Amino acid sequence: MTLPAVVPDPSFPDRVTIYEVGPRDGLQNESAIVPVEVKAEFVHRLAAAGLPIVEATSFVHPKWVPQLADAEELLTFLDLADASVPLPVLVPNERGLDRALAAGCTHVAIFGSATETFAQKNLNSTLDGQYAMFEPVVKRALEAGLDVRAYVSMCFGDPWEGEVPIDQVVDAGRRLLDMGATQLSLGDTIGVGTAAHVGALIDAFGAAGVGVDRLAMHFHDTYGQALANAHAALRHGITTFDASAGGLGGCPYAESATGNLATEDLVWMLTGLGIEHGVDLNALVATSVWMAGQLGRPSPSAVVRALG
Ligand code: HMG
Ligand code: MG
Repeated sequence: MTLPAVVPDPSFPDRVTIYEVGPRDGLQNESAIVPVEVKAEFVHRLAAAGLPIVEATSFVHPKWVPQLADAEELLTFLDLADASVPLPVLVPNERGLDRALAAGCTHVAIFGSATETFAQKNLNSTLDGQYAMFEPVVKRALEAGLDVRAYVSMCFGDPWEGEVPIDQVVDAGRRLLDMGATQLSLGDTIGVGTAAHVGALIDAFGAAGVGVDRLAMHFHDTYGQALANAHAALRHGITTFDASAGGLGGCPYAESATGNLATEDLVWMLTGLGIEHGVDLNALVATSVWMAGQLGRPSPSAVVRALG
């Protein structure tokens, strides 16, 4: 059996957008440096498998994330002008934006923290300082006609600060959206969230005037909760989910962060629920099996293991 039986749940959305982060969130955490040609093939294969948007890389400091130091070269390989789907890149600051503009990017993402400690660890900034860093980035990106996404990390828990209050997350998210970002992706960076917590966070954003149409969910699977959390978010009307092919991923500045929600596991669940997603599961599994071969270790995704 290569696809589940389809038994729709009428209370769920009809269609979901999967925002693929494997080449960025997945590969930023690999101890081995993946050759640029392999990264380019990975991105091409993900787009060919039907993923409608593929986050390609980051214009961060190469000393901070050496795995993505080849960002310019990768984008040359990818030929942005000819790309079949948008290929967003992360930019933390104006230097990152300059690099993204020079490379011809059309979609960028800023990435803020909900906590003071992680702002320090990930951005070398205070919590307030991160907003000062992002403000000119968003302004200039919008003036240049770019699409701007914002992430907020540590939305459920933080390895240094423990549980993160929902109000604190809503405050950080609102400040990033108020700068003009079109979408806010709520990151469970270390995978500690559980289903009712997910619902409570989405409801709190709703009460603060941020509807589900402006939110995406970004789950990591550290405690095996990513798919359950995605199910809870679907029930709350979320229609954009970040996922990483083969379950690659983590954050080099949050030690307990492991792989993202595997795109294949999400696709299997959505297919069974009769929710449209546009992804060819067999092509995607073949891509993750190939990538696992390149990395020299098996994929942690249950669906890749079952079908691969
Ligand atoms: P800093 O060291 O404070 O930077 O790093 P600075 O502004 O003091 O500048 C120092 C030097 O770095 C200068 O060069 C700058 O030009 C250069 P010098 O004058 O000394 O020769 N520089 C840069 N070079 C290239 N590209 C740049 C850049 N910026 C400055 N963009 C900085 C501050 C933000 C740059 C650093 O902390 C950094 O790069 N952090 C990125 C960390 C990262 O990528 N983390 C992973 C992504 S976040 C994540 O995974 C979570 C997410 O998935 C959601 C979730 O799961 O929750 C999104
Ligand atoms: Mg992440």
